[in-house]
Amino acid sequence: MPDTIPTDLVAPLFNPATFGIRGAVDQVLRQVRSDYPLSIAEVPGFDPHWIVSRHADVAEVSKRNDVFVNSIRSATLVPTLGEQLVKQFTGGDPNLFHSLVQMDGVEHKSHRQVTARYLNPKSIRSLEPVIRKSARTHVEKLLASGGRLDWAKEVAAQFPLEVVLNLVGVPKADHPQMLRLTQWLFSWADPDLGRPGCDPGDPQQQARSWKLIFDEFSEYFLELTRERREKPRDDIASLIAGAEIDNEPMTNWNAVSYFAILATAGHDSSAHTLSTAMWELAENPGLWRELKTDTGRISAFINESIRWATPVKQFVRTATEDTELAGRKICKGDRLYLSYPSANRDEQVFPDPFDFRLDRTVNRQLAFGFGGHVCLGQHLARLEMQCLWEELLPRLDSVSMAGEGKLIHSEFVSGPKSVPIEFHAT
Ligand code: HEM
Repeated sequence: MPDTIPTDLVAPLFNPATFGIRGAVDQVLRQVRSDYPLSIAEVPGFDPHWIVSRHADVAEVSKRNDVFVNSIRSATLVPTLGEQLVKQFTGGDPNLFHSLVQMDGVEHKSHRQVTARYLNPKSIRSLEPVIRKSARTHVEKLLASGGRLDWAKEVAAQFPLEVVLNLVGVPKADHPQMLRLTQWLFSWADPDLGRPGCDPGDPQQQARSWKLIFDEFSEYFLELTRERREKPRDDIASLIAGAEIDNEPMTNWNAVSYFAILATAGHDSSAHTLSTAMWELAENPGLWRELKTDTGRISAFINESIRWATPVKQFVRTATEDTELAGRKICKGDRLYLSYPSANRDEQVFPDPFDFRLDRTVNRQLAFGFGGHVCLGQHLARLEMQCLWEELLPRLDSVSMAGEGKLIHSEFVSGPKSVPIEFHAT
């Protein structure tokens, strides 16, 4: 098996614009999986990365949290220069944010515990009436639109945002600010959603943009932390503000980063999954009918839409020692790019991986990651989707595309930015 992947083949994965073209990433990953399943990408401007493309290898790296870690280098794909600039901003740390995804070991465990109980399946189930009410409001809004709207912008981007920010304790008036900051952070290279004036081709501007975003989050969430320390409420902000780590209050950096991950990852991926799923339904009348006639299949539909969308495209781990993976020698310091979309199209695990199927009896999708960092919000994300589809399906007779869907240019968290639909209400 060759050690390196031809640059022409793999470079598109490092380019946000590729993710804006439907099917382009799948095409690259399909070949990488078959011809270079665990091989190195050497793309100008970036450190070399092992591209981990098979389901079994992504799961194994994710499970070995002691050897493959997140905190000592950037936890996501960044240009070499971008990481150097971040170190200048932070005084040496390769990550600008220090949230759960940038922590390891004991520090990660103690911080994860702060919200783990709030977000576990039982607690989340108790939130169903609130989430369902919000879902119903968004369905009413859709019905009031007169038969045509942009699902991605007007429903999918708004509903999970409202749910998670209400749980965190961010006032409704500030939800648009959080959406804008999320888009600037995750969709930084997108011509419509990125921060105006930031040139996506320039790593210096990209790093400066991240710093501005971090500073705005910081200002906002330090104030919220101060308020909740003074007057706690029944919300996630109060858990973070009141948390003690080793008998000390959580540091400001960690608190701001904790808030920031909830206020970004807490809605963006769910929104992309809902948008991708609607796009699929609107193009596939057979699927629509199947789901309409048997709403008991909604949870299979949700599982398959999570696999199909796989909105988080990568995280990057760093090896802390020389080790072996799938017969390859990995050296201390090596970078490993975990490709979730590739794992979720792995022919060895999913029969007909390029078909959207409701009859997968086993759906071992890895879109939420795996191991110690597995998504903390997965039960919330699933319940949101369950409520929205259950509220929506009985109210619509048919749905179809009313124009061309558009995808975000982003190599990290991405999905549709526009899904224009037309529908007939029942
Ligand atoms: C469809 C929706 C979602 C997808 C696909 C998704 C995906 C992911 C992935 C891939 C990871 C990294 C896992 C790893 O490294 O092994 C992650 C971590 C995380 N997610 Fe989600 N996520 C979703 C929704 C949410 C929601 C709704 C929340 C808010 C509560 C959330 C909060 C988090 C947090 C806090 C982490 C960090 C966990 C850790 O490092 O310990 N996510 N998510």
